[in-house]
Amino acid sequence: MTDTTDIATLRRQMLETCRRMNSSGINQGTAGNLSVRTGNGFLVTPSSMPYDTMTPEDLVEMDFDGSYAGHRPSSEWRFHRDILKNRTDIDVVLHCHSIYATTLACHHKTIPSFHYMTGVAGGTTIRCAEYATFGTQALSDAALKALDGRLACLLGQHGQISLGNTLEHALWLAIEVETLSRMYVQALTLGEPPILPDDEMERVIAQMKRMSYGHGPEAEGSNDIARPRAKSPE
Ligand code: 13P
Repeated sequence: MTDTTDIATLRRQMLETCRRMNSSGINQGTAGNLSVRTGNGFLVTPSSMPYDTMTPEDLVEMDFDGSYAGHRPSSEWRFHRDILKNRTDIDVVLHCHSIYATTLACHHKTIPSFHYMTGVAGGTTIRCAEYATFGTQALSDAALKALDGRLACLLGQHGQISLGNTLEHALWLAIEVETLSRMYVQALTLGEPPILPDDEMERVIAQMKRMSYGHGPEAEGSNDIARPRAKSPE
């Protein structure tokens, strides 16, 4: 993420994303944390620091060996490090305690394809990782397993993790996961909803990939049917 963005700008954008995480309602207080890959390591939020008083300089520089400069890093630096190390397809890891996703996670429920948007996380389900104590290697291992082939997962009796290529993308996905969770909790009040079959979800996921769904109107291939109107001659 540093080719076009200098570190000072990246720090400002990370802080803005943390504040949006709380102002959008998907996180509360000092819960949650955020990391972004840099040249040879990553930047991560400091532990237990309120986002409204945090400054861009408070974000912590970490190496993949766990060494850091500055404040004490997020208690969840292990899963940030391990996800960024293992998932070279993404550059951003966002963790939050959004209410409905956490409600499902408290019951260790996987989100099935009850709605086509489950496909935004890259598969037919959004898995729930087994419970492990916060800040431990066991939680990192469980998260990495639940994220296999996915861009998001729930964390048992804890919260959710969403990944992205950009800060915007990770925040967008976290909000989608929360919205889906809310819909699923609501749908469950009428009984177990029917699940879309795997072949339909394959079409949905292929369509999302083809249209760069969720990456904004300017993304390449974002609409494979409509064509921009030819410019009228001056
Ligand atoms: P940190 O403030 O240490 O990042 O902890 C918040 C959290 O959500 C732990 O899972």
